[in-house]
Amino acid sequence: NFPQRVNIKEVGPRDGLQNEAEMVPTDAKIEWINLLSETGASYIEISSFVHPKWIPQLKDATAVAKQIKRNPDITYAALVPNEKGLERALAVDLDEVCLFLSASETHNKNNINKSIEETYPILERVSGEAKRADKQLRGYVSTVFGCPYEGRIEIDKVISICDRLFNMGVDEISIGDTIGVADPAQVDEVLTKLLNYFPKEKLAMHFHDTRGTALANVLVSLTHGITNFDSAVGGLGGCPYAKGASGNLATDDLLYMLHRMGIETGMDIDKVIDSALYIENYVNHLSSHQMKIINSER
Ligand code: HMG
Ligand code: MG
Repeated sequence: NFPQRVNIKEVGPRDGLQNEAEMVPTDAKIEWINLLSETGASYIEISSFVHPKWIPQLKDATAVAKQIKRNPDITYAALVPNEKGLERALAVDLDEVCLFLSASETHNKNNINKSIEETYPILERVSGEAKRADKQLRGYVSTVFGCPYEGRIEIDKVISICDRLFNMGVDEISIGDTIGVADPAQVDEVLTKLLNYFPKEKLAMHFHDTRGTALANVLVSLTHGITNFDSAVGGLGGCPYAKGASGNLATDDLLYMLHRMGIETGMDIDKVIDSALYIENYVNHLSSHQMKIINSER
């Protein structure tokens, strides 16, 4: 018994690009996001208002946010790590602010230079201010299924972080498999526990496809009634502060599976593939599976 409709959150311009060593020109990002806005997407994560030294690829977040054509039916979002980031996000009137932290102490420290305890008050201030500015709020919890530094992560830790984030007023929490280690049995176990505490409508699943298990993990999530999934066109993506993290689940692969299963997404797979072909000119290494789709369909 699967849901009839799911929401796909396109994270390509943020998660897809943040790990790219070679700068993608700002104009190309803008053109790409404009193409994504034509795919029927309802949510696009356009960049991150993080420190430009930490993520050089996304240092043009302000220019991108200012110059894209915005469709009022689409939520344009970005990562915001602290008050400085929020100030920058509010200056360009972004629709949604995404807070993020890690369930692993070591990954959190490497990624945002703080312990988890030190991170909470910052996120509390950011979420309070974002709410006052009438912004939608999303929370990300990383390394839920495993950490490149610490290995296994206790589910109780994940539950307590989600609890803190919901208390800050986040509308939804994205459960991250940052390095793509999750398998379907583990997803089943984690979701069984999380859904004892939190409503399924308020969770999203964020799978990286490092080992080709992402679609299998989506399938298990669907059986739990999850209807929000993050993905990136062409399977781009990775986190520079999580060694081994590679591509996000490809939006095109996800659409192919869901549409064949009769599950609606509102997105047009041909337009999504066109947008993947566009950005391929600038990054040159889409997932091999993606290349197979392009070659067989075109
Ligand atoms: P820090 O160095 O500890 O920052 O970095 P600080 O607060 O000590 O400030 C130092 C300087 O940075 C100051 O400037 C600040 O103004 C400036 P100075 O006074 O020295 O001239 N600064 C900023 N400038 C611009 N924008 C800002 C900002 N904040 C401070 N927002 C910080 C802490 C969090 C900023 C840094 O560690 C950082 O930017 N990290 C970002 C890491 C990142 O983006 N990682 C990837 C995203 S997470 C991910 O991919 C996982 C996910 O996909 C889910 C999954 O897969 O599981 C979401
Ligand atoms: Mg990610």
